[in-house]
Amino acid sequence: MNRRMQALAVFPAKKSVQLVDIPEPQLQDATGVLLGVREVGLCGTDREIISFEHGSPPPGSDRLILGHESLAEVVEVGPSVRRLSPGDLVVAMVRRPCPHPECRPCRAGRSDFCVTGHFTERGIKEADGFLTEYALDDEEYLVKVPKPLVDVAVLLEPLSVVAKAVVQARAILDRLPYEPGPQRGLVLGAGPIGLLGAMALIAHGYETVVYSREPEGGDKSKLVHSLGASYVSAASQPLETLTETTGEFDLILEAVGFAPVMMAASRLLRANGVVALTGIPAEGAAADIDVGGALRDLVLKNQVVFGTVNAGRSDFLSAIQQLEQFMTLFPESTRKLITHRRPLSEAARMLTQRDGIKNVVQLGLREA
Ligand code: BGC
Repeated sequence: MNRRMQALAVFPAKKSVQLVDIPEPQLQDATGVLLGVREVGLCGTDREIISFEHGSPPPGSDRLILGHESLAEVVEVGPSVRRLSPGDLVVAMVRRPCPHPECRPCRAGRSDFCVTGHFTERGIKEADGFLTEYALDDEEYLVKVPKPLVDVAVLLEPLSVVAKAVVQARAILDRLPYEPGPQRGLVLGAGPIGLLGAMALIAHGYETVVYSREPEGGDKSKLVHSLGASYVSAASQPLETLTETTGEFDLILEAVGFAPVMMAASRLLRANGVVALTGIPAEGAAADIDVGGALRDLVLKNQVVFGTVNAGRSDFLSAIQQLEQFMTLFPESTRKLITHRRPLSEAARMLTQRDGIKNVVQLGLREA
């Protein structure tokens, strides 16, 4: 008889979130990998799912197992697995391809650019996640993590989203037919994506400012200063007048998800600058901005605003390189991004409490 394990699941129809008792999975596919989940990071997307605003269970199921920011250990591999062996540390990619032959990005292994919308996402959309002791995956969607990163590797999934945003933004900036001078970056928001984004911009040589709600002198502003960036609080400076004190920016990374802030971002750009939007605003949100002025600037100053979501394998690999760089440049600040590590029994409470930066659920490998 199968052993049993616990998992944190959301039941959208019943509007409840609870620990469920389910059978441990067993390896079936030749390219399958049995994972012992070690850590799962919690984020705003999980909070939206437990507020029933985002996400959906697998077809035919009334519940979705949560958890998409994973770090796991390979326990067992199928006979055709080539790149992984038991004991390896891995992070799972979140999005899985749609089935449509005509979807070129999915067929090319880049479901993060899926054009049909029929992709699935582990722990988010129609596929169970990793907030459980053991999980199955396919070798294709697992990225091997260097062991020295073990303490911070649970940050790799959110960092992959940042890495993709930076790769895409720099590709757009690369279109410029001249050699740009020193570049100035702005990060909007000081949550995990914002702070990882600040680290990434600094590591890429940007003179960086972080703008967020928390007061100056608080933990987040101290962390930002420890990276060598400046911090400006929304409490003391309205966004519209920010550039009067800071100057304009070449690259803005938005990580707030609040429509008025997202719409206002392009007004803070220099000529030829780029805004990367990563926050997901509520549908129907309105923003009181000068649309004509913003559009005029976009055209007259060659500016670009683009959205970016999820990440492909190359972005995960670039996230690994960046995390290694962060651990050389600012190891203590990187570790400080992880505020609490708690057991699965406290996961639901951590999701509703919202204190700290990145809260992580720890799951232990059981004795054989
Ligand atoms: C995840 C992404 C996902 C997005 C939309 C984010 O929290 O990190 O992988 O694509 O939510 O569901």
